[in-house]
Amino acid sequence: MESNTHYKLTSRPVSGAGIGLRPQHLDFVLEHKPAVNWFEVLTDNYFGPEGEALADLEQIRSHYPITMHSVGMSVGSTDPINWDYVGKIKALADRFQPAWVSEHLCWTSAHGVNFHDLLPLPYTEETINHVAGRISKIQDFLGRRLLIENVSSYLTFKESQMPEAEFVSAVAEKADCGILLDVNNIFVSQYNHGDKAMDYIRSTPAERVGEIHLAGGEERDGYMLDTHSREVPDDVWEIYRAAIEHCGDTPSLIEWDNDIPEFSVLAGEASKAEYILNPQSPQYEATG
Ligand SMILES: [Fe+2]
Repeated sequence: MESNTHYKLTSRPVSGAGIGLRPQHLDFVLEHKPAVNWFEVLTDNYFGPEGEALADLEQIRSHYPITMHSVGMSVGSTDPINWDYVGKIKALADRFQPAWVSEHLCWTSAHGVNFHDLLPLPYTEETINHVAGRISKIQDFLGRRLLIENVSSYLTFKESQMPEAEFVSAVAEKADCGILLDVNNIFVSQYNHGDKAMDYIRSTPAERVGEIHLAGGEERDGYMLDTHSREVPDDVWEIYRAAIEHCGDTPSLIEWDNDIPEFSVLAGEASKAEYILNPQSPQYEATG
């Protein structure tokens, strides 16, 4: 991705398919060092004092490139920016030098109360200005560019003035940040709100997309839930193929957070993504 800011996008480029690192697989990964291009770690899991978690991350980092993904910046909130939280991210990013740092385009808190949920925003000019201003300040503090991720949602706001894709693009342009395009979340929006996934892909600025997320959700009571609990379904692979056609070769991540299977299942999913990205590339070892 071309950057027109002074922020470095990456300290150690990653490419191809990666896997979201989960505690259940840590021992296996540290013992067997499976052939994985890169891991994405959940930054919030490493906020604690020096101890086992940070020691494990040191080991992971000595063998693999990583990216850092967090859930609590609450860039869409009207609360003041939580500089204590952002400071913890900066300290970890400075220490572990991830290829990049990413967050969600959402709000998770209001009036100081944290909801521990990635809540959607109304797609308005006012929100664009508000969120982009906050992202710019956070990028200045971090000294690096953020990737912001489109979230899944189960409701829309009547105040919204534009489609979600237009909103995400406008925030990224105004803040001059990158986009983490979650194609499962696009599928969820299509299923729940009737947004056309292929229109979403076409109206996303390809040059800003630094990473793609892949996951599998579950249908309940007429809604598609973003559960990250199963293999990537065919519908999402189809959107992914369109995203790669539109954006070109983009680092892509398998996310799995609930009912976590053996590592080999995730490696198999990563192999599928790798094959779509580059049919000539060697496949991951399906071990574990
Ligand atoms: Fe995601």
